[in-house]
Amino acid sequence: MPRDVVVLLRDVWKTYHTKWGVVHALKGVDLVIHRGEIVGIHGPSGAGKTTLLKIIAGLEKPDRGDVIVEGYNVCMLDENALAMLRNSVVGFIPQDYGLIEELTVIENVELPLLLAGMDRNERRKRVMELLEYIGLADKAKQKVKYLSGGEKQRVAIARALSNTPSVLLADEPTANLDWENARKVLELFQRISRDFDTTILVVSHDPRVMEYVHRRYELRDGKLYPVLS
Ligand SMILES: Nc1ncnc2c1ncn2[C@@H]1O[C@H](COP(=O)(O)OP(=O)(O)OP(=O)(O)O)[C@@H](O)[C@H]1O
Ligand SMILES: [Mg+2]
Repeated sequence: MPRDVVVLLRDVWKTYHTKWGVVHALKGVDLVIHRGEIVGIHGPSGAGKTTLLKIIAGLEKPDRGDVIVEGYNVCMLDENALAMLRNSVVGFIPQDYGLIEELTVIENVELPLLLAGMDRNERRKRVMELLEYIGLADKAKQKVKYLSGGEKQRVAIARALSNTPSVLLADEPTANLDWENARKVLELFQRISRDFDTTILVVSHDPRVMEYVHRRYELRDGKLYPVLS
């Protein structure tokens, strides 16, 4: 049976114009990711990894090329449709977690559900299920600012999962963690992919992360190169 294509990028280019000059971040990126795959993109700082994730999430527009996510042509969507894409099709986990430190774990994880208009009881039920799943139910009422880095990363994952997205995009999910916590996060991705058939794209400069993915690429000079293992 042919596998479902969830993310498709064709000849994607992105250039930034700054007062210091022109930066060619992506120079013709092609990428196909199927349902349930965990794909890793490894590359040095400045290679364009975050740019690539933001383009897939509809947070940045490419200069050229096609970006198709779950059948949506991301470059053609208006602001409303992009908001829908970000809130229900794609779960973006930024490198700095993007959590609100003064709010509790529950309040952070339920934010996307609130935006989606889910009522309070249903929201709380869903959030507690997610916190059980990531092993942080005991921290539900804790303010995020009191959590460890590893715990924050897992809360950010729970929040990204709240609306059952088909694609998770993780930007350097282990960058601020010791290896023990990094391994826990990577094993959590493997569990999510198995349990929910979620497609996961992980970008990282850490080669150890690439041991936990199904398929990997190297991002160099704005281009993706498959790495055969
Ligand atoms: N908004 C922006 N304006 C101008 N230049 C940018 C912008 N965003 C990224 N760049 C430049 O594009 C290039 C790629 O940046 P990007 O953040 O995608 O790299 P990265 O691989 O994620 O790096 P890191 O590993 O350090 O996070 C860099 O040279 C960066 O300076
Ligand atoms: Mg980055």
